Order: sequence, then structure tokens, then C-alpha cells
Amino acid sequence: MNDGSTAKCQACEQSRRRFFSRLSIYLGSLAAAIVAIPSIGFLLGLRRPTKVWRLVGHVQDFEIGSTTQVSFEDPSPLPWSGVTAQTAAWLRRIGENEFIAFSVDCTHLGCPVRWLSGANLFMCPCHGGVFYADGSVASGPPPRPLFQYPVRIETDEVQIFTSPLPIA
Ligand code: FES
Repeated sequence: MNDGSTAKCQACEQSRRRFFSRLSIYLGSLAAAIVAIPSIGFLLGLRRPTKVWRLVGHVQDFEIGSTTQVSFEDPSPLPWSGVTAQTAAWLRRIGENEFIAFSVDCTHLGCPVRWLSGANLFMCPCHGGVFYADGSVASGPPPRPLFQYPVRIETDEVQIFTSPLPIA
């Protein structure tokens, strides 16, 4: 009687081990797939960042000589980005129909720069980077000028051509 129940328990134990062994293989495979699928999509270029023209205002909204912060949707937002899908640029009107758009991202480590109209400079609050009004580096650690976006005017709409920007 004891021999039979012992043999039965051993069979139960082996069956349970097999079940948990298979379960761990399935769960491991599922976790690997969850991690790998986005990476494979990225490597295959399935999530290419889009470059699009974004409306940032109308010509009459900007005074000639002014530098204004404008916001627009990031060119490649993730579905769960929420409000972080919004990004910004500094838009300067330099003539009747001429604009320059600077990225707000500092070329050092990407902190948003601020325009100080009194000093006629862009300042980065993170490590003291300073840029001249034309975007070139005045001082501090930034290795290159502020990136610029192409700007166009369609009827009276000011549009900038968004694209992901490299950060040093
Ligand atoms: S991020 Fe701007 S100076 Fe470092």
C-alpha cells in the first residue's frame, strides 16, 4: 500500500515538475517576444521618424524682429507619449516673409534653452551653455550651434519642417 502511494506521489511530482518547467519556458518565450518585437521593428526601420511640415502660427502673429516660442507635435511620438509629444522651437521673424526656427534643445545634452531678449542670447539652464542670437555657440559646453528647422509660409501660415534632432 505504501509502495503504491509512494510511486503515485513520484508520478505526481514528475508531472508537476514537467508542468512548471513548460510554464517557465512559455513565460520566458513570451517575455523574450515582448522585448524583441519592438527592437526588431526598430532595426527593420518599421518605426521611421516622420518628417512633416507643422503649422506653428500665422504670419501676423509674429512681430518683425521678435523671437517667440512655438509648440508643435513631435515628429515621431509614441502612442503613449501624452503631453510629452509636444515639443517646441524658437521662431524669429526677420522680415516681411522671412523666419528662422531654432530647436529649443541645447546641443550639449538636450536641455531646453531660453531666449533672453534683453541680452539677445539663448541660455541653457543646465550647464551654462550660451548661444548667440544666430544660434552659434557663445560659451559653455555645447559643441555646436543650435539646430535649425526649415521654415515656409503657405498663404499666411508659418510652418516648420520637423525632424528628430541629433544631440551630442
Ligand atoms: S545641456 Fe545645455 S549646457 Fe549642458
